[in-house]
This record gives sequence, structure tokens and C-alpha cells, in this order.
Amino acid sequence: MARIGVTGLGTMGAALALNMADRGFDVAVHNRTEAVVDEFMEGTGSLSDRFTPVKSLEALVDALTPPRAVLIMVKAGDPVDAVIDALVPLLDKGDLIIDAGNADFNDTRRRTARVTDEGIGFLGMGVSGGEEGARHGPSIMVGGTEDLYRPVQDIIEAIAARYQDDPCAAWLGPDGAGHFVKTVHNGIEYADMQFIAEVFGILNASGRSYADQADLFAEWNGGPLQSYLIEITAEILRARDSETGAPVLDVIVDKAGQKGTGRWTVIEALKLGQSATAIEAAVAARSWSAEADARAKAEETYPTGTTRMSHVLDGDLEKALLAARMIGYGQGFALLSAASRHFDWSLDLARIAEIWRAGCIIRSSLLDDISSAARDGLPHDQLILAPGIAPRLADAVEGLRRVVLASMEEGVPVPGLAAALSYFDTYRRARGTTNMIQAQRDFFGRHGFERRDRDGTGFHGPWAESD
Ligand SMILES: NC(=O)c1ccc[n+]([C@@H]2O[C@H](COP(=O)([O-])OP(=O)(O)OC[C@H]3O[C@@H](n4cnc5c(N)ncnc54)[C@H](OP(=O)(O)O)[C@@H]3O)[C@@H](O)[C@H]2O)c1
Repeated sequence: MARIGVTGLGTMGAALALNMADRGFDVAVHNRTEAVVDEFMEGTGSLSDRFTPVKSLEALVDALTPPRAVLIMVKAGDPVDAVIDALVPLLDKGDLIIDAGNADFNDTRRRTARVTDEGIGFLGMGVSGGEEGARHGPSIMVGGTEDLYRPVQDIIEAIAARYQDDPCAAWLGPDGAGHFVKTVHNGIEYADMQFIAEVFGILNASGRSYADQADLFAEWNGGPLQSYLIEITAEILRARDSETGAPVLDVIVDKAGQKGTGRWTVIEALKLGQSATAIEAAVAARSWSAEADARAKAEETYPTGTTRMSHVLDGDLEKALLAARMIGYGQGFALLSAASRHFDWSLDLARIAEIWRAGCIIRSSLLDDISSAARDGLPHDQLILAPGIAPRLADAVEGLRRVVLASMEEGVPVPGLAAALSYFDTYRRARGTTNMIQAQRDFFGRHGFERRDRDGTGFHGPWAESD
């Protein structure tokens, strides 16, 4: 009998199942298209004895030791509901379903309630690290009740990445907490990727060769920017297309895909009254990228000419990326705090930063500092105010400012970097300019305002006196 079942042997499900077998667990494997199970088994090599291949969900359930645990790793959305609907009648009370795909946490909350009503446990589990991570150690963010997590904790921790022996897996809170944290992780990932893409654009506009840029990113990866995304950027800049021999970046269409997690982050931020503008800029840039024909027409209408940037220092670009990264993480953590309060999740922000230190796409040396800062408590829930972060941000942000200014002068697009800088500049003013907004609202709608010199609400401006 197998300890756990996996249904959905696509990229991620197959990799996770192999990872479990590698760690010594017996796994029953199933896939909607039966032939995929055979293909999977052909690739299991010396691990084949660990697997029980099955061709139906009934057989999957029969192959498991009760109380059963079935991990679903299918396409996000309706397919997850379809698999749950098919599984629930086959399971017994006390069995457990784990959805390890990228679910909208609102769906996870709904599915948790639906499955729990039938006496079956449900965990919503975010998995980050792509195929490689899933195969050899992802970062794993679990939501559900803690008592449901304990029986599978050994499997989940065993397959997770390790940061200095600490497994990058944790139970984070009830129902949708794991998938919410995974969503915000992806939002931060969107922002970080966008910042890097913008710096790539600036370096191109400065006439720097890909080889030169690759060296620069590789050098940055040895400093405070050390991270998976900076590391792969250097590799990508060096890579050549195997068919044409051209730099691979030159053969790729500038149209970025998205599956929803970045957009969900922004939507949830807005619902919670939060600002995730750097993440929003990254989502917007991907959306605009899809409008290739309109962009071609716009370039014809407003020609850019040849852009030649010459006055941006490498050190400023490094600082710009660091400052923007801190602000991107800051917006993500502020959102996590807001969600934790709103849903009463008691999220451990330090633990979240810790389990992102290895295995996941946004792993970076900065996360070690972020986890220490969060452990000490974030002033006003703001990472950018943490004593361990603030002096470094104050230094780096001036590089960000110079880079944004120089780019804007030349018309080189930097929507993500500029959003990060604007957020910083807006946030660090004790007295902003929304007094004007309040005056306008009162002028046209008698909404009332608060006064600086008196307690209370509902004061009106002189324009109301003539009524
Ligand atoms: N790829 C990544 O880097 C990554 C990283 C983190 C999280 N994720 C998430 O992991 C999940 C799986 O992604 P993936 O990349 O492994 O996908 P994938 O390679 O496209 O595989 C999709 C799987 O879903 C199954 N499926 C699709 N529709 C189904 C349905 N109606 N009923 C039953 N099974 C169905 C497919 O079965 P058939 O073979 O029968 O079509 C296949 O096994 C998604 O939620 C994704 O967002 C992916």
C-alpha cells in the first residue's frame, strides 16, 4: 500500500511524485489520460518499485493506506473542482485531499468548506520552484487546519528545499492561508522579474552587449542582489538559440504570459485596502506586452528614434534593483499582514521569509535579512521601516532615483522601478496632499473632512456656507 497518492502527472505532479519516491515514500500515481501514467513509469528508473501506477481514481483510493492522503496537481481552476467532485464519494471520513496547484485562495476557502462538510480534510498547498524545485526541493506553503498537516508533515518537509538544514516548508494558517501566501510570493516574483527586465532595457539602451550584461548580472549575483532570478538572468543573457546560433533573447517575442497569480495579488491587495503598485506595474507590463500590433502603431505615431543612454552608472543600476526589490518585498509583506489581520490567520511573517530562502523562484540573500527583521517585529507592518532594512534602503533608493530620472529623460520605459520609487516617495511623507482630495470631495459631494486643529469628523469648507 502507498503512503500518498498523486493525481495529475503533468510537469509539477510528476516531479513531486519522483521527489517523494526519492525521499523513500511509496506513492500511488494517477493521471486523467491513462497513457501518461505509462510514460511516467517508463521514466522512473531505479525508483519504479516505490510507485503503484493506477488507471482510475477508484484504484488510486484503493492503493492507499487509510487514512488516505491524495495530492491533486492538475491544471488550476475547474479541473481541480472536477477532480475533487470525483474523489469525494470515493474517500472515507478522515481522509485528506491536498490541492498543490496554484489556486485562487478564495477557491481554496470554498473547497475547504465543501470538502470539510463531507468529513474529509483539505489542505491548500502552494508549491514554488518550477519543475526543478518540485523534483529536488521546492518551497512549500501549507494552509488548512494544523491537525490535518501533522500526519503529512514528514512527507512535505522531506521533499522541501533546505536552507542550512531548515526545511523550506511550513503550515502557515487555516483554509486559504497557504495559497494566499503563494499568490503573494508570485506577485513579488512578477515585480522582481519586471525590475530586472527594465534594467535589461536600460542596458540595451546604453549599447551594452549581452555578454557584457551577463558579466554585470553575474557580478551582482556575488553581492547584495544575490538571488536565483539575477543568477538565471546572467545565464539567459549568455544563451544562444540552438537552431540559429543567435542570442536566445533575440529570437524570443516580447510578449509575456501570465496565469493569474500576479493579477490575484493586485486584486486582493485592492480588496484589503493595500497598495501593491510595483506588483501592479509588473502585471500591467505583461498585459501591455500582449498588445503587439497596437504598440507597433504607437511607435509609428510617436517615434522613439534611437535611444542612447550614457549616463547611468552600473553601481546605480545595482542599487536601483536592490531598492526596488526591498520595496516589492515590502509591498508583499504589508499585504500579508493585512490579510492576516482580516482573515485572522496569525501569519508568521518571519517563517514565511524563512521558507522562501531556498527552493522558490524569489529566493535571495535579502530574505535572510527580511526574516530577521520580521522576527523582531515590523514597525507599522512595514518592512521598509525595519531597523535592519531602512538604512540599506535609504542608501539604495538614491541609485533608484538616478536610474528612474535618467530613463525617463530618454523615454526608456521603467514602469516597475518608477512605481517602486513613487511608493517610497509617497510613503515617507508624514503630510501628503490628500487634503486637496478631501477638499474636492467635500466641494462636490459634501463628504466632510477632519480638521488638523480639532477632533471630530464631518467638517465642511466655506463653499458649503452659501447653501
Ligand atoms: N509549471 C510550473 O512551473 C508551476 C509551478 C508552480 C505551480 N504550478 C501549478 O501546478 C499546477 C499543475 O501545473 P503543471 O505545470 O504541472 O501543468 P501541466 O504540465 O499542464 O499538467 C496539467 C495536469 O492537469 C491534468 N488535467 C487538466 N485538466 C484536467 C481535468 N479536467 N481533470 C483531470 N486532470 C486534468 C492534466 O492531465 P492530462 O494529462 O489528462 O491532460 C495534467 O496531468 C497548476 O496549478 C500550476 O499553476 C506550476
